[in-house]
Amino acid sequence: MVGAACVGVCALVLACSDAMAPGSAERTDDVDEGPADAAGPHSPPPSSSPTPDGGSATPARLDADGGQHEAPVELTYHRDVKPILDARCVGCHFDGGIGPMALGRFEEVEPWLDLIEHTVVRDLMPPWSADMPTGFFLGDRRLTEHQKQTLLSWIAQGAEAGDPADASDAVTPASRGLERVDLRLPMAESYAPNVHPDDYRCFVMEWPLDGPRFITGLSIEPGDRSIVHHALLYLVDRRDAQLEREQDAAADGLGYGCLTGPGPRAARLYSFEPGGSGHAVPGGLGFEVEPGDVLVLQMHYNTLGGSGPDRSTVELTLEDAVEARAINASFARRSWINGWMPIAAGDPDAVHSYRGRPPSLDDSTRYAIHWVGLHMHALGSRGHIGIARDNAPDGIELLLDIPRWDFEWQETYLLAEPVILEPGDQLYMECHWDNTADNQPIVAGERLPPRDVNWGAGTTDEMCLGDILAQAID
Ligand code: HEC
Repeated sequence: MVGAACVGVCALVLACSDAMAPGSAERTDDVDEGPADAAGPHSPPPSSSPTPDGGSATPARLDADGGQHEAPVELTYHRDVKPILDARCVGCHFDGGIGPMALGRFEEVEPWLDLIEHTVVRDLMPPWSADMPTGFFLGDRRLTEHQKQTLLSWIAQGAEAGDPADASDAVTPASRGLERVDLRLPMAESYAPNVHPDDYRCFVMEWPLDGPRFITGLSIEPGDRSIVHHALLYLVDRRDAQLEREQDAAADGLGYGCLTGPGPRAARLYSFEPGGSGHAVPGGLGFEVEPGDVLVLQMHYNTLGGSGPDRSTVELTLEDAVEARAINASFARRSWINGWMPIAAGDPDAVHSYRGRPPSLDDSTRYAIHWVGLHMHALGSRGHIGIARDNAPDGIELLLDIPRWDFEWQETYLLAEPVILEPGDQLYMECHWDNTADNQPIVAGERLPPRDVNWGAGTTDEMCLGDILAQAID
């Protein structure tokens, strides 16, 4: 085990680099697919064959009169579709869930067929921003190609209910979960969101145990699932904790308003999205917490489906000691933070990029990277993070590609297999912003006019901040 003084959170200082890479931002023009637009509501129906290679199957087809099916297999809700919806949709789409309608029963699904088709064809649902191969990240919510085709073919064939007795086994959801909960930390009291429809609120939680402990697993149990859109848990160490307490005390009611989370030195420990569950810190690593540190729970409430109040609970697995040291490194270019990250009013594609090695990562050490996260604000349009190394195609091995940035769905992406950062490798990050009139945030019901934007923590400022969880190896 590692000396207690420097485990888990010893590298929280914002790691910056001035390494200049102007113009090194290679263009990636693979953004908008969108062949979907060519497809009318029911055309062309995708292959409906559930046989492995589709062999001699005739494609399902709906004649002009809408009545004639020539499908080799008639897909039914109970046999083919329900297991997919249960595994991939119902975690959010249930009565009282964050999804706007329940999708757990045939009668609930039927009124929404057009909209389901629309969102599935365009990969809008389930929400998942990262465009990386299936299996690269844990908890991938996307439909497999086969699940997608089954859903779309079923709709194209006329969406038959079928026989409830045909129900097949549910597809196992891509779930994560805690094996053991040692400490539950509920919010001090309930909170009813008072900014509509989106209320971003930070709740400061004192660490209740005396002696250092290591957090090795994290989960958030939402109080009111109809309004908890998303939550992030941060650890703020003793030196900065007082600032958090003061912000909390200065604001009316429990917590304080915080669109962008606590200060930049806070370590992001966990991100929760509806339908997800807790997970162990990967790699057998732990985050050290000492008396005097605080946890900050940043909640994003969406009040379109309810009004609360909410009292969510943080659940933790704890250990007295851990085997390996976790380095939670945030990175951004120092010049950005010093005010040089200009995003001009009206610019449809402002780009800034970072190439470097955060100071918290030694130049001559190998590291295993266990998770990766990207943080921008409302004007973000796309971005990616990778490892810059000589033998990678185009010089960059991708860790995270977000082709359509969605501020509402920021998460920490856990790598199914850690990726190695070799001595000499650098991290690469590229952020794109769309600062035209159409992409402006709506504040208090009004779309803001485009303005010159720069780095900052406010709602109308921007950031390009990467974070990784790394572990030094041999
Ligand atoms: C992680 C949570 C989550 C999962 C999983 C999820 N949804 Fe949603 N869905 C939402 C939320 C939240 C909304 C409300 C709009 C938004 O925030 O994007 C929504 C909206 C929708 C809408 C309405 C879109 C509109 O434009 O009004 C449809 C249709 C839909 N979902 C279908 C599905 C289907 C089908 C699946 C599974 C294949 C699915 N969703 C999985 C959270 C989820």
